[in-house]
Amino acid sequence: MVVSKDKFKVREGVFDSFTIKTLQFLDSKGFFELEELSPLFLGKESNVFIGKGNNGHVAIKIYRLENCDFNKMYDYIKLDSRFKGVKRKKRDIIFMWVQREFRNLMKARQKGVRVPTPLAIRNNVIIMDLVGAPASKVKDDLPKNVKKFYLNIISQMKKLLSANLVHADLSQFNILNHNDLPVFIDFSQSTTKDSLRAREYLERDLKNVNNFFKKIGLKEKELKTVEDLL
Ligand SMILES: Nc1ncnc2c1ncn2[C@@H]1O[C@H](COP(=O)(O)OP(=O)(O)O)[C@@H](O)[C@H]1O
Ligand SMILES: [Mg+2]
Repeated sequence: MVVSKDKFKVREGVFDSFTIKTLQFLDSKGFFELEELSPLFLGKESNVFIGKGNNGHVAIKIYRLENCDFNKMYDYIKLDSRFKGVKRKKRDIIFMWVQREFRNLMKARQKGVRVPTPLAIRNNVIIMDLVGAPASKVKDDLPKNVKKFYLNIISQMKKLLSANLVHADLSQFNILNHNDLPVFIDFSQSTTKDSLRAREYLERDLKNVNNFFKKIGLKEKELKTVEDLL
């Protein structure tokens, strides 16, 4: 898809001038070519595009400033011990939300969790490696070996805990199937293990995963419990 630089209009949405400047800056640093972005996904708050970087394709997640539910963001982020005292100002909260996603990806990666490598962040834009060409969500591309895939998710969840993180939005929508191995994405809601509602999020994550894998053929007795993760 071709988009002109001064008029960054794509089918999926129109970005504000602040976002266009941010994208132009990242283009000027060689992370991608703005004119060659192709849309991958349109979410409630963000658009994901595929770009051509210097070392292969990248995924570019752009939070739409106008569409962000910053009250929800504030409610999550104020409980995160790393962001104590965050001010309830719309832009600040959105930028912090994006930073949190980037930091979470870095931390997860350092502990060996299979996640896209985060490459750059600026304002409301995150650039990361494109997983696959791109890989599908596991809900749309079921694993060949269901049990093996499930156990691998459990081991990724344990590694995430050892990075002191709980994903907090884990489900078949945020797990990609890349060559029959799980890759976790979408870390914006992830929070530290010690934060107030972390246990509740962990239980919810596991419940989502368990429900999905039960539906696609795993037996009840093969499912893990939260205690197995800790
Ligand atoms: N690094 C990536 N590699 C491949 N696909 C990706 C990547 N990041 C996001 N996607 C695709 O974009 C979709 C939306 O990304 P996600 O981070 O889950 O945003 P949202 O918050 O809108 O759910 C994903 O479901 C996936 O299909
Ligand atoms: Mg998602």
